[in-house]
Amino acid sequence: MPHIPHDTSLDSTLALVGDPYRFISRRCKHYQSNLFQTRLGLRKIICMTGPEAAALFYDEDRFVRRGVAPGWLKKTLFGKGGVQGLDGEAHRHRKQMFMSLMGPERVERLRAMTAERWQVYVQTWSGMDRVVLYDEVNELLTTAVCEWAGVPLAEPEVGRRTEELMAMFDRAAALSPAHLWSRLARRRAERWIGNLIEEVRAGRLKPPEESAAWVIAMHRDLKGDLLDRHTAAVELINVLRPTVAVSVFIVFAAMALHHYPRCREKLAAGEPGFSDLFAQEVRRFYPFFPAVMARVRQDFEWKGYRFPEGWLVALDLYGTNHDLQTWDAPDEFRPERFRHWDGNPFNFIPQGGGDHYVNHRCPGEWNAMELVKVAAGFLAKSVTYDVPEQDLSIDYARLPALPRSRFVICNVKESE
Ligand code: HEM
Repeated sequence: MPHIPHDTSLDSTLALVGDPYRFISRRCKHYQSNLFQTRLGLRKIICMTGPEAAALFYDEDRFVRRGVAPGWLKKTLFGKGGVQGLDGEAHRHRKQMFMSLMGPERVERLRAMTAERWQVYVQTWSGMDRVVLYDEVNELLTTAVCEWAGVPLAEPEVGRRTEELMAMFDRAAALSPAHLWSRLARRRAERWIGNLIEEVRAGRLKPPEESAAWVIAMHRDLKGDLLDRHTAAVELINVLRPTVAVSVFIVFAAMALHHYPRCREKLAAGEPGFSDLFAQEVRRFYPFFPAVMARVRQDFEWKGYRFPEGWLVALDLYGTNHDLQTWDAPDEFRPERFRHWDGNPFNFIPQGGGDHYVNHRCPGEWNAMELVKVAAGFLAKSVTYDVPEQDLSIDYARLPALPRSRFVICNVKESE
């Protein structure tokens, strides 16, 4: 039986923290293998990269998600009791609740509401000396998703709620007091949304029946019970937070327009289908989620390698999107490559892999695509702006990776 290559360091936590996006692919290259084993926080883990590994990872008979997320991530990014830690029937049932919110009309509604916000924000930006795009887009998306999800948000609250939703993903992995702010932000957001769930159930607030606030407040589990207040809040935040996090892709879309002016020209000219190709390439090329984790359900063998029960397994998302065997010149930004993409659900996995109605877990892929397309269309067609001197290098050691300057623009004007 072949042995899974063993990383020589006693524990790889520091190496992972230092280079989270390339930690797995660099070691796989070094060991000339698509997998290796190591320890993270002293727990044994098998790290894997590439489409074959992804297809294995999404085999639900072999892996479970329960108890996989470390405590610090549950206290910030995920929350406790949410869909991320469910398996089997309970997972399918909860996931269906999310999918019911993402039908084509609902996605189109979010797109339209967000496009209206872009119009309003662009007017404000035209009166500002300097616009930090990342900060502004976080706020723009907060206002849009709250309206879409049936969550009332009064004007004076916008700044505070934006900060809370953003801190849960932007500072979760910070190695500084910012991490504590991320925890506090989650506690505050859970209180805010927990109160809202109670208001809806008591009939004092009546969001539209197709909205996330209503659907989640009224959702019943497999036993026919309403979700408890806390779990319902975690799940509604599971819609709000990642929608705001699309700001990361939008900032990278702005970077791409800046670095590849040919793309801006094609978007401005309205070349048919190009905005889809562009949004796909933004999600493939730039870093966002480095990896996903699961636990081996029971001992099994794969290609002769032994996967022992209970071991953690990490699948490399960023590295798989840059896999040399799948992608021609993966480190070049080429939207046209998606004209010929084979649609394989395991070789392009920015939001995880698998079939949307079978084993893919992220329900927000269509929303993310539309929000990136709206933003790219606006930036390419509806406004002009300058990109002043700034540090646009990407900080790959932070999670999520971002350009160090957060992308600053100035002289913003609506196009004639
Ligand atoms: C910003 C862009 C986004 C990225 C990069 C992203 C990425 C991911 C990833 C990597 C996962 C884990 C997949 C897995 O475990 O196999 C995930 C799960 C999830 N995402 Fe997204 N996502 C994004 C947008 C969204 C949006 C817009 C929503 C909601 C409207 C959303 C809701 C969720 C939920 C609820 C889960 C947990 C699903 C489960 O475990 O079954 N995501 N996402």
